[in-house]
Amino acid sequence: MKGKFYPYPGATNLTAYAHLNDCTDPDQRLERLMWGRVPIAGKLVLDVGAGSGFHAVRYAQKANHVFAAEPDPRMLQQIYARLCNNPLGNISILAASAESIPLPDNFIDIAHARFAYFFGTEDCLPGLHEVRRILKPGAHFFIIDVNPDRGLFGKTARAVYPHVFHEKYHQEHTLFYREQGFSHVNVDTVFRAPDREVLAEVFRMEYQDKAPEILKQIQGTELSYSLFVYHWQKGNNGSAQVE
Ligand SMILES: C[S@@+](CC[C@H](N)C(=O)[O-])C[C@H]1O[C@@H](n2cnc3c(N)ncnc32)[C@H](O)[C@@H]1O
Repeated sequence: MKGKFYPYPGATNLTAYAHLNDCTDPDQRLERLMWGRVPIAGKLVLDVGAGSGFHAVRYAQKANHVFAAEPDPRMLQQIYARLCNNPLGNISILAASAESIPLPDNFIDIAHARFAYFFGTEDCLPGLHEVRRILKPGAHFFIIDVNPDRGLFGKTARAVYPHVFHEKYHQEHTLFYREQGFSHVNVDTVFRAPDREVLAEVFRMEYQDKAPEILKQIQGTELSYSLFVYHWQKGNNGSAQVE
């Protein structure tokens, strides 16, 4: 595969990963924001780092066609299994990383990358350029990332991975994306588990042996969760268009 591969534990923890997606932003505030800016109905959509295909299948209910690009064969298996249970025929699976996507230039209306650790800062430039290549003039690119400065879920991530979600994470990322022509907004949403066992299962996948300690500090089953949505629009002449 071309580019850097960042494995995610959801590849081998199928149930916990499914719970994570069900419990994250259950009121779909992120989608309301994105599709408020650009309606998804009838569009050609690319989901980069599509994981198990949870969002690709959701988006295909409204979009014209969704391309789900994912490099991990264990995730690809999950996408195929999901599609077998889904009557929609407008999803194509691409075994591909962000840095090399087998789609033509100027083709896609909306690109989406959610919890895309491969879209960090400098390292991710080849992936950013590749996605921009594929976007039509006037098309939109959304990247969703955690805000570790705000909301309880992000704070647990910082407590367990202080070297990743360090004190300057927010500042560095927003500066990098601003330099790349993206605007950003913070979306305050929630992680809502149906019960403590589901919450514990998700934490065990995300935080391994640190999970019990983190769980003890959390009351109930709902955590505030703040996320950044970075947004870029390709200019009608193919250049970046900053809002
Ligand atoms: C945290 S998961 C998020 C998956 C999905 N977007 C979701 O919200 O459920 C990150 C995904 O990116 C994939 N990935 C890792 N390196 C990648 C790369 N270089 N290009 C594209 N995807 C990559 C992983 O295999 C994993 O499926």
